[in-house]
Amino acid sequence: ALPADLTGRRVLVTAGGTREALDPVRFLTNRSSGKQGVAIARVAAARGAEVTFVAANIHAPDPAGSRVIRVESARQMQEVVTAEAKEADVVVMAAAVSDFRPSNYSGAKIKKTDADPDIVALTKNPDILAGLVRDRTAGALRASTLITGFAAETGDDKHTVIDYARAKLERKGCDLLLVNSVAAGGAFEGDTNAGVVLGSDGTEVTIADGSKTALAARLLDVIAGKLRDRAPA
Ligand code: C5P
Repeated sequence: ALPADLTGRRVLVTAGGTREALDPVRFLTNRSSGKQGVAIARVAAARGAEVTFVAANIHAPDPAGSRVIRVESARQMQEVVTAEAKEADVVVMAAAVSDFRPSNYSGAKIKKTDADPDIVALTKNPDILAGLVRDRTAGALRASTLITGFAAETGDDKHTVIDYARAKLERKGCDLLLVNSVAAGGAFEGDTNAGVVLGSDGTEVTIADGSKTALAARLLDVIAGKLRDRAPA
């Protein structure tokens, strides 16, 4: 039987890849299927959590037992997440948020021309995760809100995947970071995943390759442990 260790906890999970529109029919996006986020939401609900699931164009069935809010773009996701996080005990940012969006949206479909088209100018999207941490510091979120980010990293001859991930954890200021090595193609689109959960307190939990459901369960073990540590005696 599953533990009921998340009973009464409010968990906000994002998943999928945002779409950044160029015109009414075209957009920039990425390969995220949303399957890992779906698994986290499903397992959290099965363990007793009250789950809000923010879905950006997922290619997977909705998670059972969650309240689902659909969004399209990074800015829509930011609006929903910023509001919903106020009610959350835990936020898991599993979504692949587009780093950039087209600077100009054309309300009319962009016409095909004989000449090569203009360069598409891009504007940086807000970092939703970093924004949550800022909100928490500013008191707009409860200080106890546990914020988990995801990172897909590659290493090089000077630094390991973990070195880069530790730096990202500190930069973003979140409590936990689930790191995937994407050197060999990585976690996108498939049904298996592996990773390391880094904690801002220096902890490191390795999750061996397995199903996305198994990874979700191990990540939620770590999260449940942190919630216990924070609970008043
Ligand atoms: O910086 P990077 O994109 O590698 O960070 C990944 C983490 O940050 C993920 O948890 C992702 O959901 C989150 N993110 C975000 N807003 C962005 C970009 C990434 O919340 N604009």
